[in-house]
Amino acid sequence: MTDRAVESPPAGLTPDEAAAMRIAADAAIAYRLDLPGSPARPTVGLGEAGRRFGAPLGEHGAPAAQVVGEIVAGADGALHAMAAPTFFGYVLGGSHPVGVAADMLVSAWGQNAGSSFETPAISAMERAVCDWVIDLLGLPPASGAGLVSGGTTANMVGVMAARHALWAARGWDVEREGIVGAPPIDVLIGADAHSAPLAALRYAGFGDARAVRVATDAEGRIRPDAFAAALDRCTTPPLVILQAGQINTGAFDPFDPLIDLVRERDGWVHVDGAFGLWLAAVPKLADRLAGVGRADSWAVDLHKWLNAPFDAGVVVVRDRPSLVATMSARGSYLPPTTDWWEPADSTPELSRRARGVPSYAILRHLGREGVRELVARHCELARRLAARVAAEPGLSVLNEVHSNQVAIACGDGADGDALTSRVLERVQERGRVYPTHGDWAGRRIIRASVIGYAMRAEHVDLLADELVEAWRWVQANP
Ligand SMILES: Cc1ncc(COP(=O)(O)O)c(C=O)c1O
Repeated sequence: MTDRAVESPPAGLTPDEAAAMRIAADAAIAYRLDLPGSPARPTVGLGEAGRRFGAPLGEHGAPAAQVVGEIVAGADGALHAMAAPTFFGYVLGGSHPVGVAADMLVSAWGQNAGSSFETPAISAMERAVCDWVIDLLGLPPASGAGLVSGGTTANMVGVMAARHALWAARGWDVEREGIVGAPPIDVLIGADAHSAPLAALRYAGFGDARAVRVATDAEGRIRPDAFAAALDRCTTPPLVILQAGQINTGAFDPFDPLIDLVRERDGWVHVDGAFGLWLAAVPKLADRLAGVGRADSWAVDLHKWLNAPFDAGVVVVRDRPSLVATMSARGSYLPPTTDWWEPADSTPELSRRARGVPSYAILRHLGREGVRELVARHCELARRLAARVAAEPGLSVLNEVHSNQVAIACGDGADGDALTSRVLERVQERGRVYPTHGDWAGRRIIRASVIGYAMRAEHVDLLADELVEAWRWVQANP
């Protein structure tokens, strides 16, 4: 280090650093302004992106403004327009601009959100997000909640809280003793569950293969008769994982009758509601999830239907002490657990970014009415899309539209799957809209998720037009 560096530390920001921040902010705004006319998928592949970014790290650095400028230029064409209302792939929200604006502050503020003691503003905003989400979704008001990185982590934490409670009830302290030598716990999960809660079972030490996969109906919902039979075979109070929003059909398990049965056996019900739980915020749709609030823990994403920037999700646990017991990180230099919501008591991380702040901004911006409008609009648009697609001879919709997911198949002969893949390929290549694939009901499908905050009728109509165009083209070009 030179004497000059010791004697003249830069003030808050050097002119170069300030310029870098301005370049980033301007580029962010320009990117979102240009998004509507941009190709729906990257025009630059991984090979070229690798050449742009993959040079060996040089001995000497570069000015901050130059580096940020290079990142902006290098990413050109190599980003996916996931924030655009033409992106129907997977189940991804579109990073609402008010959340993005707040997220810029999160990075600039540089707060470690792990402790309420050190960063009161962040802690108060994140606590508000948890309270608002619990309230909007009709979950028990005294629940504990944690702001985690997404649906997978939320499922993991929920399953770990369940693990704590079920073992504690049998005299086993899993936090002290671990899982080796612990008494067995029966685990039930639907045959059409998402892979995330299965991963959660692995992370929590249950293993996924030991879980009993309960038979489902044509929409992917657990069948109550099969569930009752599976429960009869349980020898312990079970851990039961239910689902609000099947990834292909958007369907919901029948919560009330299933939870009635679990209550007779002192089990724990965890709900994977990564996207589907948001229907509980809409009074006219909430009856599709009747009884969901009677479960013990819930996983819900903020970066899906709330359209928070990645990454953000919430885990809610009815019995807050079970959440704290499984997650809390204590140390002499950390504040003690109090009745006040303490971030490090409810998430796996100690240090983490203030990921709740963008969701605070989005919820404040939308209000209750805005959240209801967003979810109801998408459900309505999904029905519109399904009707448009089903009107084309040879295209079929394989699901009832329960929420925002539409499963589309082409043709019905032995070559149907190949035709479906070719149609999807053409739609993606044309680059106007971007759905992705899946497998459902023994068929390859094109899956459309109507979830981006800016999606309107014109966007689902464009998707329907593109699907019809591609289907006709594939038939004309066998
Ligand atoms: C039903 C369901 N559960 C869990 C997840 C995993 O969520 P994340 O990708 O936020 O970890 C998803 C993601 O699509 C999902 O659809």
